[in-house]
Amino acid sequence: MCGIFAYTGNKESLPILLDGLQSLEYRGYDSVGIYIPNAGIVKSVGAVQELKKKITSTMVGTSGIAHLRWATHGEPTEVNAHPHVDCSDTIYVVHNGIIENYKELKEKLISLGHTFRSATDTEVLAHLIEHQLKETEDFELAVVASLHEVKGTYGIAVSYKGDPEKIIAARLGAPVVLGIGINKYFIASDASPLLRHTKDVVYLRDGDIAVLTPQNYRIRTYTDVEVIRKKQVLDFDVEQVKKDGYEHFMLKEIMEGPQVIENTIRGRLVPEKGLVKLGGLDAVNEQLRTIERIIIVGCGTAYYAGLVGEYMLEEYAGIPVEVEIGSEFRYRNAPVDKHTVLLAVSQSGETADTLEAIREAKRKGALTLGIVNAVGSTIARETDAGIYNHAGPEIGVASTKAFISQLTALALLTVHLGRQRGMSIDVGRNITKELKLLPEKIQSVLDQRELIYSLAQKYAGSRDFLYMGRKYNYPIAFEGALKLKEISYIHAEGCGAGEMKHGPIAMIDTEFPTLAIAPHDSVYEKMLSNIEEIKARKGKVLAIATEGDIRLTDIISDIIYIPQTLEMLTPILSAVPLQLFAYYTGVAKGFNVDRPRNLAKSVTVE
Ligand code: F6R
Repeated sequence: MCGIFAYTGNKESLPILLDGLQSLEYRGYDSVGIYIPNAGIVKSVGAVQELKKKITSTMVGTSGIAHLRWATHGEPTEVNAHPHVDCSDTIYVVHNGIIENYKELKEKLISLGHTFRSATDTEVLAHLIEHQLKETEDFELAVVASLHEVKGTYGIAVSYKGDPEKIIAARLGAPVVLGIGINKYFIASDASPLLRHTKDVVYLRDGDIAVLTPQNYRIRTYTDVEVIRKKQVLDFDVEQVKKDGYEHFMLKEIMEGPQVIENTIRGRLVPEKGLVKLGGLDAVNEQLRTIERIIIVGCGTAYYAGLVGEYMLEEYAGIPVEVEIGSEFRYRNAPVDKHTVLLAVSQSGETADTLEAIREAKRKGALTLGIVNAVGSTIARETDAGIYNHAGPEIGVASTKAFISQLTALALLTVHLGRQRGMSIDVGRNITKELKLLPEKIQSVLDQRELIYSLAQKYAGSRDFLYMGRKYNYPIAFEGALKLKEISYIHAEGCGAGEMKHGPIAMIDTEFPTLAIAPHDSVYEKMLSNIEEIKARKGKVLAIATEGDIRLTDIISDIIYIPQTLEMLTPILSAVPLQLFAYYTGVAKGFNVDRPRNLAKSVTVE
C-alpha cells in the first residue's frame, strides 16, 4: 500500500531513489514520482520503468524523495501522483496513508488563498506546511504544527527547497523505517530497499518525527524535541529479496517452502519430550495457563490461516477459539476480558485492520499475541508476546510462503498450549515428529510442478471455479480460491463441501469446474460422495489427494498427490499445489503475477 522512499547523503541521489522505488514496487504500481531538490520533479502513471523513460541526465542532486502510489483518493493519473507540492513549489511531500479530515483542511486552505492541483488527500499536507512555514519560518516547526492539524494515518517524507539537504519524515499508523549509514540516511516504508545500503535501522513509532541531514539524524515527537529509539540490525540480506533466477517472486517464494518450514521450526521442537520451545511466549507463559478463550484475527490469507488454527487449537489444546477478520472485530463490541487472548496473524505486521483489532482488544484487557513474519513491525511491537514465522521477506503480492509458515506456527502454538493443558506426551511427540518431516514432504509436492503446470494450462480458459474442502481443508478451499482470483482474475469460490447441496451445487455444469481437496483423512469418505455429486451433474473435477489413493482414480483423472501426514498438518501440504496452480494459471493468461491489478502487498489503510 503506497511506498515512500527518501535519501540524504553525499552520493548522487537519482540512482539510489530509483533503486529504492524498484525494491518497493510491490507496495503500489498505479503511479510513481520522484523529487530531487534544485533538479525538479518527475511523475508518471504506471510503474518505475515508465518513470525512468521520462528522467533526464539533468536530475542531479544528493537528496530526494520518491513515491509509489496505490490510489485511495483520486484516480491514478500523473497529476495525482506524488510528490505533492504547495503553491510556491517549495514544499514536496510523499505520503502513505489517508488524511481523513482532508476535506475540511482543504476548504480552510482554499479560503486562505491556496490553489490545489490534484484530487488527493495528500496535497493538503504540502499546503498546510507552506501555511505554517509563513507563521514559524522554521521547516521543522512547520511540519510539527501541520501534523497537529491532521487526522488519519500517515507515513510521510518532506523536502523543502529552502533546506535541500534536510528530509523530515513522520509516522502515524503507517510504517516508516529509518536507515542509518555513514554520512547517509534513508527513509522507507519497509526495510527491503535499505538492505543494499545499511543493516542498521530504526522503526519509527506512531507520533515520531525524524529529521535527517547527511551528517546525522534526530527523532522527536510533537512535544519533545528529542527522543531516543533503539537501533536494530536487520536479520536478512539482499540476496533474500532477489528473484534468484526465477521469473517471478511468487514462484521463488513457493519454491522456498521446504526452507521456510525448516526456519519456522528451527530450534523450537523437542520431539523426545513432545514439547515445543517458543521463546517469544516466555514472558506470558503463566498467564497462558489460565486463558479461557482465543480470538484469532487476521485479514485475507492470514484469516484463512487463523481458521485452520481454530481447528488445531480446539482439537488438540481444548481451548475455545473464534476467528474474525480484523475489519469486523474492530468495529463490533465483542465481549473480551483478561482471560481472552487476541491472537493476530499477519505477514507484514502492518495491516491496519488487524492492528486496530489488537488495540481494541488491549483496551478491553485481553492478552495480545502475534504470529508475525516481519521482524520489528508494528504488530510485532504492539502485541504482548508472539511467534515470529521466520519465513524471510515475502515480496510477491499474493501471500504463499508466509501462509504455510503461519500454519506451522499455529501448529507449534497448539502443541505448546496443548501440553500446558493435558495433551499427552505421545500426542506431542507425534505432532513434533511430523512437523520435522514437512520440509521433505513439501519438496515432493513441488517436484510435481510440471503436472500442475499442465493442469493450469488445461483449466486456464475457465471463467469460474469452485474450490471445496472439509474440516482442516475447509479453510484451504477458501485460500485456494482467493489465490486463483488474485492472480488469474478467474472468479473462484471457496465452499465447505458439506454446504454444496445447500446452494453452490446450482452453479455446476460442464463449464464450471471444481477443485476438491480430498486427502485421506477423517472426512475422506464424505469428500468422495461430494465429488460423485458433482460428477453426476457433469461437472469437471480436479482433486488434491493423498499418495496411493486409488479409489479417486476410478472417478477422476486430474489428481495432484500430496504425501500422507497428520490430518491437522495436511493444509500445509495441500496449500502448496493450489498456490502453484494459481501461479501457472495467471502466467498462462499472460498476467504479471507479482503485481496483480488493484492489489498492494501491505494494506496499511482501512
Ligand atoms: C492474499 C494476501 C492478503 C494478505 C492480507 C493480510 O494473497 O496476501 O490477503 O494475506 O492482506 O496481510 P498480512 O498478513 O500482511 O496482515
